[in-house]
Amino acid sequence: MQSWRLDDGRQTLVLAARRERLPEVIYWGAPLPKEEDLEVLAAAHRIDVTGGMLDENPDLSICPEAVRTFPGQPGLIVRGNDGTPLLPKFCYTGEVADDAGLKLSYADEDNGLQYHAQIALDPETHVLTLAAELTSDEPVHLHWLAAPVLPASQNADDILDVSGRWCGEFQINRTPWSAGIRYRENRTGRTGHEHFPGLIVPGMGATNTQGEAWGFHYGWSGGHRMIAEELPDGRRQIQFGHAARMETKPATSFKSAPLYAVYSSDGLNGVAVSFQRHLRDRIVPWVDTTRPRPVHYNCWEAVYFDHKLDVLKDIASRASKLGAERFVLDDGWFGQRDDDTTSLSDWEVDTRKYPEGLHPLIDHVHGLGMTFGIWFEPEMINQDSDVFRAHPDWALGSDDQILGRQQMAIDMGNPEVRDFIYERMAAVLEEYPIDYIKWDHNRVLPMPDAAQTRGSYALIDRLRETFPNVEIESCASGGGRIDFGILARTQRVWLSDSNDALERLKMQHNAALFLPAAITGSHVGPSRSHTSGRTLDIRFRGWVAAQRHMGFEMDPRELNEEEAAVLSEITDWWKHNRDWMMAADILRLDSIDPAILAEQQSSRDGSRFAVFAGKAATSAQIAPRPLRLTRLDPEARYRVTLVNRNSASHLSRGNPALKDGPIEMSGQYLMNHGVVLPWSFPETMWVIEGHKLDV
Ligand code: DGJ
Repeated sequence: MQSWRLDDGRQTLVLAARRERLPEVIYWGAPLPKEEDLEVLAAAHRIDVTGGMLDENPDLSICPEAVRTFPGQPGLIVRGNDGTPLLPKFCYTGEVADDAGLKLSYADEDNGLQYHAQIALDPETHVLTLAAELTSDEPVHLHWLAAPVLPASQNADDILDVSGRWCGEFQINRTPWSAGIRYRENRTGRTGHEHFPGLIVPGMGATNTQGEAWGFHYGWSGGHRMIAEELPDGRRQIQFGHAARMETKPATSFKSAPLYAVYSSDGLNGVAVSFQRHLRDRIVPWVDTTRPRPVHYNCWEAVYFDHKLDVLKDIASRASKLGAERFVLDDGWFGQRDDDTTSLSDWEVDTRKYPEGLHPLIDHVHGLGMTFGIWFEPEMINQDSDVFRAHPDWALGSDDQILGRQQMAIDMGNPEVRDFIYERMAAVLEEYPIDYIKWDHNRVLPMPDAAQTRGSYALIDRLRETFPNVEIESCASGGGRIDFGILARTQRVWLSDSNDALERLKMQHNAALFLPAAITGSHVGPSRSHTSGRTLDIRFRGWVAAQRHMGFEMDPRELNEEEAAVLSEITDWWKHNRDWMMAADILRLDSIDPAILAEQQSSRDGSRFAVFAGKAATSAQIAPRPLRLTRLDPEARYRVTLVNRNSASHLSRGNPALKDGPIEMSGQYLMNHGVVLPWSFPETMWVIEGHKLDV
């Protein structure tokens, strides 16, 4: 028997292999004692056999092999160059353990295939990174390659995964485990709104703040496949990989994207905090960590395609007065882009709108002390564009394909196309002092193709190399391209095209299971939301944006004096707190009142926190229920202040202590009784600040 174990103080992962076969993960959970005998564990892990079963249970290995009578989905499906299905059966060939983790190698000599699994465990973030690689002596066709397969606990009732839509990203689905497969496959060629590549398996009875949970995320922007399967014998497996058949050409080498996985013994928050930290501290390539996240102003919902220099200057001045520090010029500045039917790929400034180029606008923005960002949609082309007229063959897919937003994708797998787009974008970035790109992707691909995603990555990587100080925001009609693969190359995501604070509150709450505040853009939208028609008060809009990387996206000319004052005040509060908040852990609170969506942002050193308690609906009961906090020091005392107590409505007639000013109490009380908030209207937010007191 062979065995390996990985430990980080929070979890142990044990792999064991019978003879020289591919190993199985025989344990993944709370840390095991050092002296645990892995041979005994491997034997104990074996399950019984009864009537109607094979004489031995096939291995649920890191790449289950169909040829070994595995009764579920195999980890690899591959065909020879002539189309003959190959049925791999791997044997151990070697291993390397170094700083990059553990690499296990296997070969199938009969089929000329080699399989490698890479597994690393980060001792600080507690995130496992797993990737699989297939190489072959002759070119083969790949249908499916799963990242190393992990088991799911049989002590879990449900599967939580994430779906969504335009303006409704990050909706959580809870599906009970049962025999068979929960299978999700995204064949849109981008990460997509529909199937965020994440999964959480909560242990029985787990909540946000307690119980066990196992989290998974597949870091790839081209569309993935997820399989959560319960085998007839009760064992469960989790597979993640690229969407099937995304590799369109025979080749001798294929890789899965990294699968990120984590075990938590303190609820969904343990998973969330690990993913948030891993993304922020390990994956996102920050340009300058000493520079605070700037407050954004984005002009999209103010002017759309109607760019007028004077108006934009006026808007920039007002945005700056409100506290904005970065001005982002959205769609409409290039080609003849007066609406969304034209000009994508003609990345040259529209001299009808900007006769002297962008300099006058940028000079004005800089004069206000703001930096300047600009919108591109590099992977797209309109048929009504100069580039398409010159190179119709550069568009991806057939001539009679269904268009999306009147546009086609451009063939990013073609190096000539990539070079052209690079040159055009580089010319703009060279001519103008631009430190930010909003990088959009507004349609699905005609078919999934891994070469397209690799081409997009290559273009971003090349631009980042030439312009290392330019930050990039990943946007795809809002949250259509959010994953750890794109975030290895970008610094911000546009979570949604919905600036409706109520919708945002919900999305942000769920997205926090995977994303930290520092990378999650959130803007104060117009009073009447352009995407939902809902009218919301400036306080609520302001505080919801202040939960994440804050910005504005309305026409500031619509704000009356009072609204402008409120927004400036909230923005000041955010600026005052951003240094610690942008590095804080977002902890979802277990609110007993389903109308309240609450989170606690806790500083890394535990010295302070902010609680955002958003009221998404009217409550069933008349008086607010106490809201329990989490992860505080039970022995310590905290000073707790209701930051926006002046917002209490006239219908809040009583005197909960927080309404009068700060109160001091123990962590134990705050966690076990909770804070009692004043009565409030729906679509409002209470914000609490907490400070640990010196003893
Ligand atoms: C979709 C984005 O999500 C919006 O924010 C905006 O940039 C438009 N595209 C511009 O066309």
